[in-house]
Amino acid sequence: MNTPLTRPNTYRSGPDAAGKFGGFGGRYVAETLMPLILEVEKAYAAAKKDPAFDAEWRRLLTHYVGRPSPLWFAERVTGHLRAQAAPGLGAKVYFKRDELNHTGAHKINAVLGQILLAKRMGKKRIIAETGAGQHGVATATACALFDLPCTVFMGAVDVARQQPNVFRMKLLGAEVVAVESGAATLKDAMNEALRHWVAHVEDTYYCIGTVAGPHPYPAMVRDFQSVIGEEVRAQMMEAEGRLPDVLVAAIGGGSNAMGLFHPFLDDAGVRMFGVEAGGHGIETVTGHAASLTGGRPGVLHGNRTYLLQDENGQILEGHSISAGLDYPGVGPEHAWLHELGRVEYVNATDEEALSAFQLCARLEGIIPALEPAHALAHVLKLAPTLPAETLIVMNMCGRGDKDIFTVAKLLGEKF
Ligand SMILES: Cc1ncc(COP(=O)(O)O)c(C=O)c1O
Repeated sequence: MNTPLTRPNTYRSGPDAAGKFGGFGGRYVAETLMPLILEVEKAYAAAKKDPAFDAEWRRLLTHYVGRPSPLWFAERVTGHLRAQAAPGLGAKVYFKRDELNHTGAHKINAVLGQILLAKRMGKKRIIAETGAGQHGVATATACALFDLPCTVFMGAVDVARQQPNVFRMKLLGAEVVAVESGAATLKDAMNEALRHWVAHVEDTYYCIGTVAGPHPYPAMVRDFQSVIGEEVRAQMMEAEGRLPDVLVAAIGGGSNAMGLFHPFLDDAGVRMFGVEAGGHGIETVTGHAASLTGGRPGVLHGNRTYLLQDENGQILEGHSISAGLDYPGVGPEHAWLHELGRVEYVNATDEEALSAFQLCARLEGIIPALEPAHALAHVLKLAPTLPAETLIVMNMCGRGDKDIFTVAKLLGEKF
């Protein structure tokens, strides 16, 4: 977890007491939800100060999840890019291999922290929302481990396109509720989970899968995911004797990116790129899920942030080849960092991600999830333009087993 901040003019001290990152974040929730949110905030503040809580979380990360995840020098990708670059150009590319975590993605880092918190709070059951299913699988896994009943809300459309993860959750003992309202995707699943939470106040903890939702969730999930960036700092010092020059991560709600970026925000020499889902292109109205580069500020799921919305403020459905990136909002801390210009937000299209996915499999023997394939697509554009001594770290935040059916279909393969 993050150490307390002592320096002024830091990017790392947010949010303020109201849960605001500049003009973003906060808690825009119904009166009935307020006592629950305040209870979570109080419990998390106490847990953060308790060394026993931190020790138990880190024990699980080491022995159950398999942390630290390796930092891999992607030598063949680097060589491939240098071969296309002008002499002296072609950055050195590393992957932070969070796809090797138990359950196959970064989501488990924050889930274990939240389940330990729920236990401390005396909660008897867990609910979660999921899009791609990775957060649902991670939550169902932790609930099996801690013998807690688990209900996962998932849009009916995502249930259909992420069947392997739906079956995994069921095997792990979770109940999966297919949400039919709205467009039946992640936004609707989160609405349903929030509604359900209000009606089951006493015994239920809502385990949120990204750095969104009302305060304290964006900060709490970020704190847990910051283990990624903290490990990268130490691993780069060991491998190269210095910090990286560039960090790159995919952005759905923004938790893997926030986890990588946050420990480096005050290192002025480190450039950061958050890669949103450009879908069919951000010039299309509903053909992408790029909330920061193609949306504008509004309120959704209890916080103020950048959203995909029409001229009347109605939320638009995001589109992406990747189910984990089609959330029509983004964590409020990203909205703030975007406005400050500290992090550069870009996007990669479906086509670029699909081609990066295949390149990674062939050159590195790593089948990435479609989410980090977007980050890699940006690395493929960026690395050849940078001097050869530049060090890039990209977050390989999930593995692609869940996506092979989608990709096979897109490539015209039949099973
Ligand atoms: C592997 C993977 N990466 C990234 C994401 C996007 O979430 P976030 O932006 O919170 O990291 C998801 C979401 O389901 C995911 O499964």
